[in-house]
Formats: sequence, C-alpha cells, structure tokens
Amino acid sequence: MNELLSVENLHKHYEIKKLFHSSRQLKAINDISFHLSKNENLGIVGESGCGKSTLAKVLTKLENKTSGEIEINGKKIDLVDKNEFHSLIQMVFQDPYQSLNPRKKALDIIADPLVINTQLSGDERKNKVIEMMKKVGLREEFASRYPHHFSGGQRQRLGIARALMLHPKILILDEPVSALDVSIQAQVLNLLLELQQEFQLSYIFISHDLSVIQHMSDRILVMYLGRIVEYGSRDEIFNKPLHPYTKILLESAPKTNREKISHHVLNGELPSALNLPKGCAFAPRCPIASDQCKHEVPELKNIHNRDVACFNA
Ligand SMILES: Nc1ncnc2c1ncn2[C@@H]1O[C@H](COP(=O)(O)OP(=O)(O)OP(=O)(O)O)[C@@H](O)[C@H]1O
Ligand SMILES: [Mg+2]
Repeated sequence: MNELLSVENLHKHYEIKKLFHSSRQLKAINDISFHLSKNENLGIVGESGCGKSTLAKVLTKLENKTSGEIEINGKKIDLVDKNEFHSLIQMVFQDPYQSLNPRKKALDIIADPLVINTQLSGDERKNKVIEMMKKVGLREEFASRYPHHFSGGQRQRLGIARALMLHPKILILDEPVSALDVSIQAQVLNLLLELQQEFQLSYIFISHDLSVIQHMSDRILVMYLGRIVEYGSRDEIFNKPLHPYTKILLESAPKTNREKISHHVLNGELPSALNLPKGCAFAPRCPIASDQCKHEVPELKNIHNRDVACFNA
C-alpha cells in the first residue's frame, strides 16, 4: 500500500474561555484533507498561527482532534494501539533543548522509546542507541553526555535519533532547523534526506522558510488560518503559484535566483482565528478579492494540476 496517512475533513477547535464572557471557539484546524504516500516529503508552510503545529500535534495524538478522520497505514488512528502508533509515526520538535530532558544522558534519551515500546535488555538497547548515534553523525562517546554539552545541531541530531529508534514510517518535523545557525541548517537537512533513503521514511516537514520547504518537499500544502489554500507539487507551486496568498508568500520570501512572481506584498494583520471573516479568511488582505470572496468560503478546486481555494485564481 502506497498511502501511509490520510486525513479527511479534520477539525481542531479550542474552547477559549474569558472571565465574564461566554466561551468561544478558536478554529486552529478548519476542515483539512490531504494524504501522504510512502517515501514522500510533504512540506507545510504558512504564517505564524495558521495551525501548523496544531496539525502536527493532532497527527501525533499529542492533542485530540475535534472531528474528522485520520487513517494511518490503513487504520483509523483511534483504533491503533499506543505501541503500534509510536512505531508508525514520530515527531521531531523545533527546539531540541526544550524537548530533551536536561537531567538525562544522551544514551537514556535516545533509548527512551525502546524502554517504553520494547522488551530489550539494557545491553541490547545500548547497542541499538550507539548504532543509531553513528547514523545521525554523533560519536559513541557522546552517549554519556547531557544535552547541555551538545551544540544546537548535535541536539537536533539527538532528537532525530530518538525519533528513529522504533523505525517509524512517518516523521513529522516541526520547524526542525529554525533554531539552528544557517550554516548548521543545511547539514541537518541533508542528514534528514540521507536518513529518509536509508529508513524509507515519509516526512511531513513544517517550516515558515520557503527555501527549506523547496529543498525538502515533493508536495506542498499552503495553510492560511487553519485551512488549506493551495496544495500541489513543489514545482507547480514554486513555478506557478495560483492562490494570491501563495504568490505573496513566495514574493515576500528572500529571493535567491527566483524570478519575481508578483508585485504584491502582504498587507494588514493576520485576522484572529477567534474571529474569522465570514467568507474567505484571506479576503481582507487579498489584492484580487471580489464581492463573492467576502461572503462565501471558497472550496479547494483542482486547477492546473493542484488544488486551490480561490474564486479568482
Ligand atoms: N492549546 C491551545 N489553546 C488555545 N489556542 C491554541 C492552543 N494551541 C494553539 N492555539 C491557537 O491555534 C492557532 C494555531 O496555532 P499553531 O501553534 O498551530 O500555529 P503555527 O502555524 O504552528 O504557528 P507558528 O509558526 O508560530 O509555530 C493559533 O491561533 C494559536 O493561538
Ligand atoms: Mg508552530
């Protein structure tokens, strides 16, 4: 089976309670559908607050979904038991320091998933940890060190080693290199691409950095305020973005050798997810919004080999 993950009409709403006010719903994920195939890299991009991390947390069951269906390896995720789930999908976090227990040695941090999910002896675990450390470019003698003895890049390698211990099929990487120096970023990204080949992994790669997304992704999902606005292959999206939001994102990203794509800039503040506009959430900032956009929410439609949620694309 080629499809590893399928997400249908996923919603994640948070109840926001304020003193003396009735509670309100914040739609962090608002009707999202997509799928992930074996060995595929899906890049997720969008402004801060658009729901990228919420999506990652729901997919890894760190948060419960409000509604919708998620199937992993052909099974509804609610029906997959904990052990099986952890050997299917793992997450690497943005800040490798915060996500690693400072009082544990590298050996124990990386071995953690084996302690929880397997019956291996201490020696067997240690051997597996050392083997994995080598694969992620960490020397054996680092095993007895604590996280604060590692550089940022090394800490992220530690986090990656831990995530791979159960040989998952899917790795969700939430801004895995944003906290690292630019010179280190490329090393970690290239390591991830090597590991993908070796372990036959599929990645969901979250980043606000378009050059990173371009380097890492086969397909790209562009999010705006909890919804997908454009979803297609990397080349289609980078060479010919159709949604005005995607165009502006690409336009406002630092350019290397890319052509100028449009002459618009993103104006106005991101509306609050607590108070979404009635029609298309992007309409208040959109250079080509029409009357219809202010009243109706555009569905994703297939245009020119990708899906776009825009009446005027
Ligand atoms: N536990 C929570 N309770 C209430 N609201 C939340 C919670 N977690 C996230 N949100 C809200 O959900 C929306 C999406 O947040 P999320 O962290 O998923 O965005 P993001 O795309 O990952 O942003 P960033 O690029 O800054 O990491 C935001 O409006 C955020 O304030
Ligand atoms: Mg985030």
